[in-house]
Amino acid sequence: MANSGPFQYGDRVQLTDAKRRHFTIILEPGGALHTHKGIIPHDEIAGKHEGTVYKTAMGGEYLCFRHLLVDHILSMPRGAAVIYPKDTAQILVEGDIFPGARVLEAGAGSGALSMALLRAIGPTGELISYEIREDHLEYAESNVDGWFGGRPDTWSPRLGDLKEVTLDDVGGQPVDRIILDMLEPWECLETCSKLLVPGGVFMTYVATVPQLMKVMEGLRELKCFTEPKAWESLVREWKVEGLATRPEHRMNAHTAFLIWARRLADGTVAPRPQRRARR
Ligand SMILES: C[S@@+](CC[C@H](N)C(=O)[O-])C[C@H]1O[C@@H](n2cnc3c(N)ncnc32)[C@H](O)[C@@H]1O
Repeated sequence: MANSGPFQYGDRVQLTDAKRRHFTIILEPGGALHTHKGIIPHDEIAGKHEGTVYKTAMGGEYLCFRHLLVDHILSMPRGAAVIYPKDTAQILVEGDIFPGARVLEAGAGSGALSMALLRAIGPTGELISYEIREDHLEYAESNVDGWFGGRPDTWSPRLGDLKEVTLDDVGGQPVDRIILDMLEPWECLETCSKLLVPGGVFMTYVATVPQLMKVMEGLRELKCFTEPKAWESLVREWKVEGLATRPEHRMNAHTAFLIWARRLADGTVAPRPQRRARR
């Protein structure tokens, strides 16, 4: 599917009216959206540039843009809660998801993170996504296929429990990156240690403090990861209007914590972190 240029049939288009209400359509020949302000024929949008306004015969005005990935993620059907875009951004950069990377993900959930990972690994990478629930895997597959306009060659969605995955299941070669988003990731740490290449990055996304503590302790006990670090990211929007300029009153203050560690080479004992002596 095209990401820029004039609208084409098959594009997912967001129409925004004067009240900032959004209507999403997938352009198809002969299709039409019926609004209380008149009909919007798809054929009159196809071929137009993004960022143009369509005016209906009854005076309705609709600003037309293609869906961005964040629009799709926040509006798509979901079985499981999705990773918020602010956290996905952290995972892509801190997790060092590079073009050509082999990435293992679990659980696939609704496929939100899968889509961002697939974009980042590019056409030469590989993403293997495990999901334990069949109904959730169906959501992930339908959301990912809908966004890319078909199944990406680089994606291998699989029904299964990550705990039971072996090196043979991932092609006999350890993967470069592992990203977990699940209720009990500490149960999968030993498996992950066997599937991740030395130097590979492990990240997990957990919502609560007890989960955070269990993962941190689990990583330390295995003794084959660097000292893990943990953080959260807070994003606060601002209203910028003359003298009323100020932070917005409301924000998604807590989504989750991120935990990060790197796989040591087998047999390596990392130097103990030294604290500065107190005066
Ligand atoms: C919060 S959702 C993941 C959402 C996903 N990251 C997204 O952005 O759409 C957590 C998922 O992990 C799955 N899960 C839990 N334990 C699992 C395991 N051991 N192996 C594979 N999937 C698992 C659950 O069924 C659930 O769908």
